[in-house]
Amino acid sequence: MKIGIICGSHRNDSQSEKVGRYAAKQLEASGLVDDLFVYSLAGNPLPFWDEGLWSGDPKWADALDTLREELNSCDGFIVVTPEWHGMVPSGLKNLFLLFPGSGELAHKPALIISVSGGAGGGAYPIAELRMSSYKNNRICYLPEHLIVRNAGKVFNEDSTENDPETHDYLHARLIYCVELLHEYAKAFQAIRASGKASLETYKNGM
Ligand SMILES: Cc1cc2nc3c(=O)[nH]c(=O)nc-3n(C[C@H](O)[C@H](O)[C@H](O)COP(=O)(O)O)c2cc1C
Repeated sequence: MKIGIICGSHRNDSQSEKVGRYAAKQLEASGLVDDLFVYSLAGNPLPFWDEGLWSGDPKWADALDTLREELNSCDGFIVVTPEWHGMVPSGLKNLFLLFPGSGELAHKPALIISVSGGAGGGAYPIAELRMSSYKNNRICYLPEHLIVRNAGKVFNEDSTENDPETHDYLHARLIYCVELLHEYAKAFQAIRASGKASLETYKNGM
């Protein structure tokens, strides 16, 4: 069982990456996974989509092959998105443009974690991902998700920086979410193995 954690902030030292790495640590400690892949969009490592992706420009193989292999080998994902101006950052939407109906994410469960520095943010990017990031790649978002508000006050390595009540509540909910993701990931292995989830007939969703 391998879980991929995609940290969607472009910023270095982002709260989203902090949360993603905290989730990775919990998964590692749980013994539920054999392998983890943490991928951060900090510093914009991926080129912005262009038509060379469709015409076989070799620059795209150089840019994507290693990442493609990692994503292919994952059984499920955690997608960590910050809320930026009420949206998912463009780098994360770009990643979805780069892996459309090619199967890397297809029929694999994914837990969304949204991250906001404020007290009331985090709902918009969840709604956005649920509405417009799955159609062709067929990633399957869990109905459960986690919203991390006041992100600076939770999941810090230095526990004195945490607000204990909020941290403990979100920690418990995170554990619930990753244990659920693990069950979905086990079950979805059977769905993919059935052959009924092939992308051959309908490469793109409706
Ligand atoms: C360009 C930009 C726009 C932002 N817009 C919002 C917003 O609309 N709502 C919100 O709750 N936080 C907003 N924030 C603050 C983020 O929630 C905060 O930076 C938090 O730490 C998550 O982002 P990060 O993972 O990049 O650190 C914004 C931050 C940036 C850099």
